[in-house]
Amino acid sequence: PEVRIDVVTIFPDYLAALDLSLVGKARRAGLLDLRVHDLRDWTTDRHRTVDDTPFGGGAGMVMRPDVWGRALDDLLPTAPDPAVRLVVPTPSGRVFTQRGAEELASAEHLVVACGRYEGIDARVVERYRAEGHPVDELSIGDYVLNGGEVAALVMVEAVGRLLPGVVGNPQSLVEESHGAAGLLEYPVYTKPPSWQGLEVPDVLLSGHHARIERWRRDRALERTARRRPDLVDALDAEALDARDREV
Ligand code: ADE
Repeated sequence: PEVRIDVVTIFPDYLAALDLSLVGKARRAGLLDLRVHDLRDWTTDRHRTVDDTPFGGGAGMVMRPDVWGRALDDLLPTAPDPAVRLVVPTPSGRVFTQRGAEELASAEHLVVACGRYEGIDARVVERYRAEGHPVDELSIGDYVLNGGEVAALVMVEAVGRLLPGVVGNPQSLVEESHGAAGLLEYPVYTKPPSWQGLEVPDVLLSGHHARIERWRRDRALERTARRRPDLVDALDAEALDARDREV
């Protein structure tokens, strides 16, 4: 079942990177139908205007609702469908997390509306929400970008790699940082076993599977506690064993 993602932007070239790597491969394999559109295709004036000055005053420009409305009316189904979501990247949205990526990956069709300038006229989200379309206003983190394009790249990559068949070994999705365990990833090593006087931890060369598992979990817990105490607080107490509590 191919997932479709439409991205609407005034800078389609920004999304050229989605021809590359894993996402590009998913597209060529027919797992992902990704279409990038130029918002200006929905303008009607000679200058292809997409923005105007904000009512109430203030700096910057706001994207016009009429242009966005024509674009989204073309790309969203007339009747709202729970499997079709409108995604609006914005620094004022809920934070996009791995759980959010999983949620988006379970949809059949995403329409991503990239705003520039000070944002999109608020009536656009208001209207599609009122009609019953699922709408997600999402921030990729607490910093401000010039527009939604880079956030859309982040979201398409995070979602794309979760689609069945895109990542070769699905186990790698389970064990990674922000996976089901709720912990950061343990440190990893490869050959050579000794490099510039630095040794790979003995346990990893021991072939003792249970001890390796325990060591990795200890390192993941230690790292998470130091770097992301918020994630430790959010762990389910039931999911911790007696040994975990000592770390
Ligand atoms: N647009 C501008 N900044 C953004 C952010 N942090 N997340 C999502 N979209 C944005």
